[in-house]
Amino acid sequence: MQIKHHIPPTIEMNDIQGIVVRGYGYMPSAYYLMLSITNVNACKSWLVQVADQLTHGLEKPDEGCLNLAFSNYGLKILGLPEEAQNTFVREFREGMAKDYRQRMLGDIDQSAPANWDYGYPEQSGKDTQASENAIHLCLMVFAADDAALDQRYQQIRASYDTHGLREVAKLEGKTLPGRKEHFGFRDGISQPMIEGIGKQSSEGNTCKTGEFILGYLNEYEQYPDTPLVSPQHDQKNLLPISPLDPSKKDFGKNGTFMVFRTLEQDVKNFWDFVNEEGKKIYSDKEDPAVFLASKMVGRWPSGAPITKCPFHDNPALSDDDNFYYSKDDPDGMKCPIGSHLRRSNARDTFIKDDVKESIRVTKRNRIIRRGRPYGNPLVPDLNPQEVIQGKNDEQKRGLQFICFNSSIARQFELVQQSWVNDPKFLGLYDDSDPLIGHDPRGFQTNNFTIPDTPVRRRVMNIPRFVRTKGGAYFFMPGIKAIKYLASI
Ligand code: HEM
Repeated sequence: MQIKHHIPPTIEMNDIQGIVVRGYGYMPSAYYLMLSITNVNACKSWLVQVADQLTHGLEKPDEGCLNLAFSNYGLKILGLPEEAQNTFVREFREGMAKDYRQRMLGDIDQSAPANWDYGYPEQSGKDTQASENAIHLCLMVFAADDAALDQRYQQIRASYDTHGLREVAKLEGKTLPGRKEHFGFRDGISQPMIEGIGKQSSEGNTCKTGEFILGYLNEYEQYPDTPLVSPQHDQKNLLPISPLDPSKKDFGKNGTFMVFRTLEQDVKNFWDFVNEEGKKIYSDKEDPAVFLASKMVGRWPSGAPITKCPFHDNPALSDDDNFYYSKDDPDGMKCPIGSHLRRSNARDTFIKDDVKESIRVTKRNRIIRRGRPYGNPLVPDLNPQEVIQGKNDEQKRGLQFICFNSSIARQFELVQQSWVNDPKFLGLYDDSDPLIGHDPRGFQTNNFTIPDTPVRRRVMNIPRFVRTKGGAYFFMPGIKAIKYLASI
């Protein structure tokens, strides 16, 4: 066990779960285990053991990492006092699959929760906590390779099988060559930095701690909403006093909300489509398919930002996140306004001609992404030409999309609804995110506009390449709060 960084004493890194503050890149194999509680008391005795094994923010254990999150129903069934349940934010109480939220997130048609592999109806707001497939816990296990992961999994499974927990879904997460996602683009490059934790970057990319961890000030100089408990419900005095209401204890301190979505990717159709469309609008380019696909993403396959190298990929810039749009690319001539990258973080161009205000706004809507691909790549080295020339293998693959934020509504949901899916995003008219978006209002709004001279180029009626196959909202408490849960 090593102490990695100098942390100001006010941030309780040894209580914050490790996955929130680092991505565990050195542990490429993962399982996300969706568990249902069948015996509350047995589960609580398991929680006592497991709380001490959870990886916290200061550790980098060699034997693997372990983190744990709870659904709304999980906390209910474990007996979290009703006052705390009721003080949780609405979106967590209602769940990801609540009817109007399905429309808001674009989970319609084939992505509708009724077709999900897991997580529905338990996330629909119906009181189904007793259903045998209800997801109460998400246990995240990370290891250095697949063999080590399976060994760890067998041990941990033996412990929860005998402690009142049933496995509802076992989801894998892995890293692909070049840290790419299945379409073949390097991922996990842009991340907001958390003030006071780890390496720091530019002021515009460093967010207040409370944007991602409860119990600390956020970008509004306020403490995020947090679930509260009366002192008489904390007989062992395990929880801290709440800064929001000093007559209450703070169950949320050092915790965060985790959004988990299994997003299936249709790799063959993606590359076939950009190949056909690329030939139409970029016949002058060396590789029209890759050129168009990179415009859609906002980075080249290597990860290099097209804002910095608009004409050719440049692997030397593959981890480059040090750029803004206002000076070099205000109108999206290099990186289109509607690209995935620019929609999900417009950086300093969110408000026209107001760099400072743009950054102030976008910093209130950032998410920390910790997802990983699942399934085998369609072609081993993710080469687009091989995909185009080859056949579809009909295997399942995609992204276990995971993000952390202290307000699901203001951060993840806003990005998904108002930025990714919005046809009128920043002056566009009938577009949506060409990579992952789909306007839930429907018809003929799935276009992609590419600013260019003498006239813009357009790709029309983009099919849906990414489908939601399951998901849930979770709360990932601080480690002391898990001990509290085990004690009530
Ligand atoms: C299968 C689905 C998805 C794929 C294939 C995908 C792919 C990518 C890629 C290749 C990048 C560029 C690498 C980087 O900058 O780190 C990226 C960035 C990003 N994505 Fe996604 N993504 C997916 C889903 C999502 C979803 C659902 C959201 C949020 C609602 C999201 C939000 C972001 C954000 C915030 C960035 C960084 C933007 C920036 O700060 O410049 N992505 N994504």
